Amino acid sequence: MVLKFTGSFTQQEAIPEKAIQAAIAVMRHGRLHRYNVVAGETAETVLLEKEFADSCDAKYCLAVASGGYALTTALRASGIQKNDIVLTNAFTLAPVPGAIQGAGGRPVFVEITKNLVMDLDDLKKKIKSTNAKFLMLSHMRGHLVDMEALISITNEAGIKVIEDCAHTMGANWNGIPSGRSGVVGCFSTQTFKHINSGEGGFLVTDDAEIMAKATMLSGSYMLYESHLAGAPVEAFENVRLDTPNCSGRMDNLRAAILRPQLADLSIQAERWNKRYRALEIGLNQVEDISLTSRPSKEYFVASSFQFCLPKFTQNQIKDFVLGCDLRGVQLKWFGASIPVGFTSKHDSWRYVDKQNLPETDKILSVLLDMRIPLTFSLEDCDTICQIIKEEVKKITSYQVLES
Ligand SMILES: Cc1ncc(COP(=O)(O)O)c(C=O)c1O
Repeated sequence: MVLKFTGSFTQQEAIPEKAIQAAIAVMRHGRLHRYNVVAGETAETVLLEKEFADSCDAKYCLAVASGGYALTTALRASGIQKNDIVLTNAFTLAPVPGAIQGAGGRPVFVEITKNLVMDLDDLKKKIKSTNAKFLMLSHMRGHLVDMEALISITNEAGIKVIEDCAHTMGANWNGIPSGRSGVVGCFSTQTFKHINSGEGGFLVTDDAEIMAKATMLSGSYMLYESHLAGAPVEAFENVRLDTPNCSGRMDNLRAAILRPQLADLSIQAERWNKRYRALEIGLNQVEDISLTSRPSKEYFVASSFQFCLPKFTQNQIKDFVLGCDLRGVQLKWFGASIPVGFTSKHDSWRYVDKQNLPETDKILSVLLDMRIPLTFSLEDCDTICQIIKEEVKKITSYQVLES
């Protein structure tokens, strides 16, 4: 009998009971807007910001409506001007170039390495050729670049780094929490991220002026003094009347759902990583599969898994993805010519100037990606590995027959 997998790659765990109770309490009192409080009350959103700031050792934190909103706001608050170039990873997801475009910037893509992180040699070249003053560093699929090396390059060039930590909440590089090496760190709490409120995001920084501007941009109606992880009141003096309100606040209902999840983040991270290690062990020995190597300084939170099939042709990869799909293993292929689901890539973002990225294209053409929801057990991971191995073998045995 053919082995099939019946789990769902898009099924996250249920919201914890404590979070449900907290959400019910907010709905019962009805004060969902973060600035709608009664005397003596501290809003759930305000508490969440404080807890998130503490969790990553940041001075300031602002909770917002989405990760993409956090990215656009971070650029605006950092002083981007119309048509400024913003360097970013050539391998990322659509909200990243979208945020740059939305803030009036022009994305210029930097090549990636086989380990799916920004290529620092190409970064140096692009800094030289563009004279860019902003870098939106996307820790795509949770892979962290050598942050010490990157920050030394960007500091020397006077570049402001905004970190896209949509996939690295809870991760760190050499003990420094992801999002804390750059000027601003941006996070997402959208359903497929490490804590889940459907939509939502955070922006963290130690820069009081950036936080004051971001707070005004998010729509604080001059009520910023109620924030516990907000910029000091003096920081608002020069910005409060000059910064437009582009509403994108988080509400108390989402914050209530997120607070208990944030408290459990490190436990969840270990559960994700156990599943990742099971997949890694299972696929490591397969001849045609190549895995990314993870540096010892990187502590990652593996909510997804990537591997390459470097010897496969495009048609073989198509057949492989289909074969796996028929057996219940859903893989995303970043090499497809037409974007499917979440897999769009630099040449599908036609609002961006066309760019030549041969190294990235070569890697993406053989890159497969899958989610690892926590609803999967370790046995599920073994089943997935078994199916992938068999499907790889099927393709390679056809190849032998054909030759
Ligand atoms: C790499 C990356 N950056 C940013 C975002 C933006 O997050 P959101 O969906 O909360 O806007 C996402 C979301 O999918 C993402 O995958």
